[in-house]
Amino acid sequence: MEVVVRPDVDAAVDLVARLIAARIEAKPDLVIGLATGRTMERVYDRLVALGPSFRRVCSFNLDEYVGLAPDDPQSYRSYMRQHLFDRVDIDLANARLPEVDGPDLKEVARRYEADIAAAGGVDLQLLGIGETGHIGFNEPLSALMSRTRDKTLTQDTRRQNAAMFGGDPDRVPSRALTMGVGTILDAREVLLLATGEHKAHIVAKAIEGPITSMVTASALQLHPNCKVVLDEAAAEAL
Ligand code: GLP
Repeated sequence: MEVVVRPDVDAAVDLVARLIAARIEAKPDLVIGLATGRTMERVYDRLVALGPSFRRVCSFNLDEYVGLAPDDPQSYRSYMRQHLFDRVDIDLANARLPEVDGPDLKEVARRYEADIAAAGGVDLQLLGIGETGHIGFNEPLSALMSRTRDKTLTQDTRRQNAAMFGGDPDRVPSRALTMGVGTILDAREVLLLATGEHKAHIVAKAIEGPITSMVTASALQLHPNCKVVLDEAAAEAL
């Protein structure tokens, strides 16, 4: 695991966006795993400004809330359209998120894994980190070898994500379909970005603590090609 600390949020975001753009330039048909959350909004803004062509890129998002209509403005599909897909030349048929509106979530999860494999696996997986230490929506006690499946969200996570739901944690869906920790570890390269002092405690646990299913981001210590980019605030407990 390589840890890079940049002086402030803008510098950390810029580094991550430049790394993504460089990978797309080197491999125009890159298979990229994408993340959501407030941290990523700035990454997508910067990436759009850098202007790499997504024409041949294939993307798989980490997760999607269960129980929202696909066109719900709070769905991760809407988030991705707003922050990235509608601003670049990606073919929407190649921009995938779990399609959670079907009745059989196990089948949706199985198909998502099969689609990732059929695309040749993920070249570059972009990650944020939740304050419970989750990557994707792999909450504490997710098996480190887990695959795509539906997970119940913790109350902490629902509270953290409440701002996007009018501030009310009860409006945040209680479940999500997420790539598993094992699915994420299969990516050939992983790039995690965390910024802000509210992430410092969990970042230290993930990077320097024991590898444990209580902090699923700690599994990244096992990955042979993982870069963690932090601003100084997020790095202050290291
Ligand atoms: C959500 C997403 C995660 C993301 C996390 C952090 O829970 N499922 O993939 O890492 O938010 O979000 P933020 O960047 O808003 O702190």
